[in-house]
Amino acid sequence: MNRILDCIINKNTSFVPVWFMRQAGRYLPEFRKIREKNTNFIKLCLNPNLVKEITLQPKKRFDLDATIIFSDILMIPYALNQIVEFKKGSGPHLGNLELDKIINTNSNNFINKLLPVYEGIKKVKNETKDEALIGFVGAPWTLLVYMINKKSPKKDFNFNYIIKDKVLVNELLKKLEETICLHINHQVKAGANIIQIFDSWAGLIPQKELFNYCFAPTSKIVKYVKSLKIPVICFPKGIGKNFKDFCSIVQPNCVSIDPEVDPKLIKKETNGIAIQGGIDPKILLEGNDQIKKTVQKYLQIFSGYPYVFNLGHGVLPETKPETIEYIIQIVRDQT
Ligand code: CP3
Repeated sequence: MNRILDCIINKNTSFVPVWFMRQAGRYLPEFRKIREKNTNFIKLCLNPNLVKEITLQPKKRFDLDATIIFSDILMIPYALNQIVEFKKGSGPHLGNLELDKIINTNSNNFINKLLPVYEGIKKVKNETKDEALIGFVGAPWTLLVYMINKKSPKKDFNFNYIIKDKVLVNELLKKLEETICLHINHQVKAGANIIQIFDSWAGLIPQKELFNYCFAPTSKIVKYVKSLKIPVICFPKGIGKNFKDFCSIVQPNCVSIDPEVDPKLIKKETNGIAIQGGIDPKILLEGNDQIKKTVQKYLQIFSGYPYVFNLGHGVLPETKPETIEYIIQIVRDQT
């Protein structure tokens, strides 16, 4: 059994497994080189040979405990026939939301559009064998936000605008739950042995609506992943003091925390569910002393608790690759 599974399933605390969200990404010169020649990001995610090459890039450099498939959560809107584009410097842009077109996308059409993703996973699996290979999806809420808002909600976001058309929201959530499960199933068949659910915009949901838009839809996905006998990591980013309720209602095998979460407090609230991450990715842009202090703080707090070392969000493009190596060394030295 690999170290991550041993940690999150068996709750073995004798070592701390380590990997990084966005470990394959723009902070790596070898990624940027491929990206420069492949200006269409969706097409890049649909090139099995390049998916394999990019996915394995971090593993070539670093001593990591998991590989995460190079892909994107927005491959689902793409496969549901909504236009998805990535423009330099401004993140993703989605085309008009045509509900009929989306609802009428049948499972075969949907899967056919994503076949190259699964082809890429199979190629990676040939190299990684029994090691941890993480597949992932966006949570229904986060995908709904991108599909209705059509761009990142970072700058302008209005909750009531997103949920205004209740029929649209309910139909879309239903379709998303169904296709997210389909996408998970095919990733697992291709070789993924852990699934992470990214709910990057859960923090935008008002407290009284968290159950409806985060806990309930995510629970359905978690139940499905568990039915496949595959462990599931949830990342409901930004929900603050609601992590406790999230864990007791959703019951993932592991919960990934963001920098706003108090690590000491959360440990008492998760009822033994493994915890992942936490450190602010911005810390990695500071000097080695500050980095070491922070890494050791998290390791110390979670000593004796099932903990997967990671950050509280993805590695920033400005991060030096040597910093990742430095952090892995600290984690290895301590455990
Ligand atoms: O973690 C990994 O290494 C696996 C690959 C991965 C990517 N996206 C590749 C990627 C994963 C797990 C994701 C998830 C994802 N995608 C999320 C959830 C996690 C999070 O960041 O909150 C979200 C919200 C997206 C949507 C998305 N994709 C955004 C907002 C962006 C633009 C970000 C930016 O900095 O401009 C992307 C593009 C993207 N996805 C890149 C990578 C490596 C950067 C591509 C590039 O411009 O070169």
